Amino acid sequence: MAKKPLNIGLVGYGFMGRTHSNGYKRAPDFFPELEYTPVLKAVCGRNEEKTKDFAAKWGYESYETDWKALVARDDIDAIDICTPNNTHNEIAIAAAKAGKMVLCEKPIARTTAEGAEMVTAVEEAGVANTVWYNYRRIPAVSLAKKLIDEGRLGRIFHYRSNFLQDWTINADLPQGGEALWRLDAEAAGSGVTGDLLAHCIDTAMWLNGGIVDVSAMTETFIKERMHQLTGKMEKVTIDDACVFHCHFANGSLGLFESTRYARGHKALYTLEINGEHGSIRWDLHDLNHLEYFDHRDDSLVRGWHKVHVSDGDMPYMDHWWVPGLSIGYEHSFVHQVADFLKSLEDGTVCEPSFKTALETAKVCDAVLESAAERKWVDIA
Ligand SMILES: NC(=O)c1ccc[n+]([C@@H]2O[C@H](COP(=O)([O-])OP(=O)(O)OC[C@H]3O[C@@H](n4cnc5c(N)ncnc54)[C@H](O)[C@@H]3O)[C@@H](O)[C@H]2O)c1
Repeated sequence: MAKKPLNIGLVGYGFMGRTHSNGYKRAPDFFPELEYTPVLKAVCGRNEEKTKDFAAKWGYESYETDWKALVARDDIDAIDICTPNNTHNEIAIAAAKAGKMVLCEKPIARTTAEGAEMVTAVEEAGVANTVWYNYRRIPAVSLAKKLIDEGRLGRIFHYRSNFLQDWTINADLPQGGEALWRLDAEAAGSGVTGDLLAHCIDTAMWLNGGIVDVSAMTETFIKERMHQLTGKMEKVTIDDACVFHCHFANGSLGLFESTRYARGHKALYTLEINGEHGSIRWDLHDLNHLEYFDHRDDSLVRGWHKVHVSDGDMPYMDHWWVPGLSIGYEHSFVHQVADFLKSLEDGTVCEPSFKTALETAKVCDAVLESAAERKWVDIA
């Protein structure tokens, strides 16, 4: 059967531009049953030479240097937003108004208000949309979801999650501009809250349901940094670290921590869930394993099991190698591409949709408000 082409227009050729391009290229090979196939139609970046190089290297048919020109093209079906957070709102709304499907990197936007406008735009236009909270699609995390939904843990009491890094400890590191936009709240919206905790919150609400209220503290350890765009020492406006606790709607308690000041940790995303019958634990540094404890096991063998998530009956794994062989970080993006294509075929929503991702934005905003005002904040 001839495949239906899905013409992709990618905006931004940085870190995520590469992971997504790899996803579009790999998905048809490993998910051959899909009706749609992505076509790398055009990439957009502001620097013509670098954009042209990226297009040649990754196999894009053409390039643009202004995202508005990309959005205006008749031969583009879907706009994929891989640019800093301050650009998501404008590009997504323009794309939706032009009738394009929109795939947007996380967080959906800098604030809930910006994100809500994007939800309205895609819903009014009736276009397919998704936000790249890719950790849901790491097979071990997807397996955790299956085990929880089957009720194996019983009533949930605790959800605990960390995202730890150490790359901003040096006080001489500048802020803002190319590559360092994450240190500038104007471009990023917030620091670790929107960048790292947003991932933890999305996974948490997917696995354990909605969050009702939060109490948080944030800290900015280095108060001033040289701003790359002005060349001057300027106040640092992001949160370097954030710790919050919360109530989930199911009555369980949540505890979350993220920082870029945890010496020795590069991207330590961990989660643990404790239920009445058992517990689950996962760690990004060992992403193919899911640790599982079931109190109902025979006492002679009761203990933490380290499940290697590689068998063909584990989520996504029948599309890869043979049991016992591992996959990596990049596969979570291949899986999101495959799920997006499947959702077009089935006429379903590829979660998290913009609407779902807005719930994470609401929690992030409440966390920042709670920290700023030193009080509990209900999620709107
Ligand atoms: N899902 C994940 O795990 C994950 C990981 C990293 C980043 N992200 C998200 O992806 C987005 C991009 O992050 P990144 O790490 O790829 O950043 P990056 O700095 O590596 O790349 C951003 C790219 O956008 C380009 N750009 C900026 N403004 C532009 C404009 N107006 N028009 C066209 N291009 C423009 C930059 O030149 C650069 O090529 C952010 O929203 C970030 O939060 C998600």
